[in-house]
Amino acid sequence: MSTSVRSFAKINIGLKIGPLRDDGFHELRTLYQTVAVSDVIRVEVGRGVGIEIYSKDPRVPRDETNTCWRVADKVLRSLKTRGKVRIAIDKNLPVQGGLGAASSNAVATMLALEKALKRCLPPEERLRIAGEVGSDLPLFLIGGTVLGIGRGEQVYAVEDLPSFHCVLATPEIGVSTPVAFAEWDKKWPAKPPTGAKLTAQDGSDRMNTFSQTIYEWLNGSSFTPTGVPSKGWDRAEALLLDLVRTGIENDFESVVFPRYPAVREVKRALERSGARYVSLPGSGSTVYGLFADQQTADKAAKVLNETGVPAQATATLPREQYWKEMFAKIG
Ligand code: C5P
Repeated sequence: MSTSVRSFAKINIGLKIGPLRDDGFHELRTLYQTVAVSDVIRVEVGRGVGIEIYSKDPRVPRDETNTCWRVADKVLRSLKTRGKVRIAIDKNLPVQGGLGAASSNAVATMLALEKALKRCLPPEERLRIAGEVGSDLPLFLIGGTVLGIGRGEQVYAVEDLPSFHCVLATPEIGVSTPVAFAEWDKKWPAKPPTGAKLTAQDGSDRMNTFSQTIYEWLNGSSFTPTGVPSKGWDRAEALLLDLVRTGIENDFESVVFPRYPAVREVKRALERSGARYVSLPGSGSTVYGLFADQQTADKAAKVLNETGVPAQATATLPREQYWKEMFAKIG
């Protein structure tokens, strides 16, 4: 019998890229938010040894380069157990879309494998394994609204944002995250030429400002005193207005848009369709729009589909639902 788990996507509400570190990663600050679109991971453990990956999608690697494979291997080692592990990946999320699908698949594999083995890793061991396999894995061990620092792998649960109506538009372009980081480095070399004055881009100022802005936005200092209800859609609307006002942005836009003008076009189309806030998850190529009402979101997705850009209307997924739906029965 197999254990099935839903593997949800994430978006980034703002992302600041900091200096290139000695370990080859960039320091960053971001606010992750899980979204209610998912792949399904089915795990089976039988007699024997080895890890096998199955997927109908030809773009999914079947070997140890697959994040699910690497996580399964580390879980088996950590639990000092053996077995033949079969991992089936039902793909629905785009590959290389910035939605963290491969990372989410890997965390779902970890949780499904623990369940299949009827064993439990300590929380800190789960986090260690997740962070070793990739910067975007640990957020999926928290779900909901998550602050990411370090190379993105240091995660903190923050108070959940209300659920926003959301449209995910996925132009058929794969953006490589390492290439996008390299483009950023070309644009903003880490070390200014000798004698040059440090600019705001070089120092930690931008990171600090970003953290302060996120703090200000999450704490809603500008809307709660005005009497806006703290729950429900009114709060969601006030937050959306504030999100635009505070100027929270994703640094990747400045390198991805010039290289892939079609992605910028999708952003413009979402704005024209009434999105309150539009940005990229990670380095794209998915573009997401947050909407104040479902009708406008549905219409925006329809218009994009009609113009040949695959799009779907969904909603952001707060933490409690994230965990509930992850393990809910899959038909
Ligand atoms: O951690 P992950 O496997 O997602 O990283 C993939 C690649 O993206 C890294 O090898 C690195 O080139 C780049 N990266 C980075 N800074 C980060 C995260 C990723 O430069 N904070």
